[in-house]
Amino acid sequence: MVGLVDIKSLYDLTGKAAVVTGGAEGMGKEICRFLASAGASVAVADINYPWAEDTAREINEVGGRASAYALDVREEPQVVQVVQAVRREFGRLDILVNVAGIQDRELLGEISLTLWDKIHHVNLRGPFLTIREAAKVMRRDKSGGRIVNISSMGSLHPIFDGLVAYNASKSGLNGLTRNAAFELARDGITVNAVLPGNTTTAGQARAPGPPIDPALIPNLIPPLGRTGKVSDIAGAVLFLVSPAAEWITGQTLVVDGGHLIK
Ligand SMILES: NC(=O)c1ccc[n+]([C@@H]2O[C@H](COP(=O)([O-])OP(=O)(O)OC[C@H]3O[C@@H](n4cnc5c(N)ncnc54)[C@H](O)[C@@H]3O)[C@@H](O)[C@H]2O)c1
Repeated sequence: MVGLVDIKSLYDLTGKAAVVTGGAEGMGKEICRFLASAGASVAVADINYPWAEDTAREINEVGGRASAYALDVREEPQVVQVVQAVRREFGRLDILVNVAGIQDRELLGEISLTLWDKIHHVNLRGPFLTIREAAKVMRRDKSGGRIVNISSMGSLHPIFDGLVAYNASKSGLNGLTRNAAFELARDGITVNAVLPGNTTTAGQARAPGPPIDPALIPNLIPPLGRTGKVSDIAGAVLFLVSPAAEWITGQTLVVDGGHLIK
């Protein structure tokens, strides 16, 4: 007699506590909504505190549990303090999702060291700090854990000009993912990356940079026929932090509508 599988429990996060950096808007906000909908308590940690508060309030209003935290991921003391505060508030820490990122573009010949450093500080130094601090708590609690980093398909293949610093920072994030996964596996902590393709968000539209060559625009539509939605990315993250993915670590999951197979 073959019983049916309890599929719902494979995606159930009831009783889990999560930190999502960059949760104030865009993909991060949708990821907060998905994790809260699966039952997790969610700390919305963002440099944009008023909008992080909005995300948390909207989740609480519909019966989820969320709190807002002011966090600049570049700042070590803030990362240490926020991770400890979340652990105190929720009594545990099971999930870290690094979404905070900046998408400024500049051509290789024009980019200043200041902008290069800024992009790397937010997109790579930030996740290093949050992973280090979250892993300390998870190890101490002997609770295992799930870490997901939002990288980019551009970390594997350039799509258009101006993303030298950005794509390099995200390639570094892929390396951080694999190496953290290797070191943390013995503590039952998985570390994976999601590599989104072109996904429609207000933050992406606002990102400063030179105009994109109009000839390249048709190439931005992937084989599946549309640009990404934030829910496409949140679904992949939910899978990676769920019990269904407990034997997956060190992976870079491209979620791009088939862009890179063109
Ligand atoms: N939108 C896309 O097409 C796309 C594609 C590939 C990868 N990504 C990556 O996905 C992530 C989210 O992208 P999005 O389009 O939703 O961006 P977004 O600009 O809408 O959101 C980014 C969030 O990060 C926060 N943030 C920025 N700097 C921060 C800092 N120093 N400390 C804490 N929070 C900070 C912002 O306030 C914002 O809430 C980013 O890491 C981005 O690089 C986006």
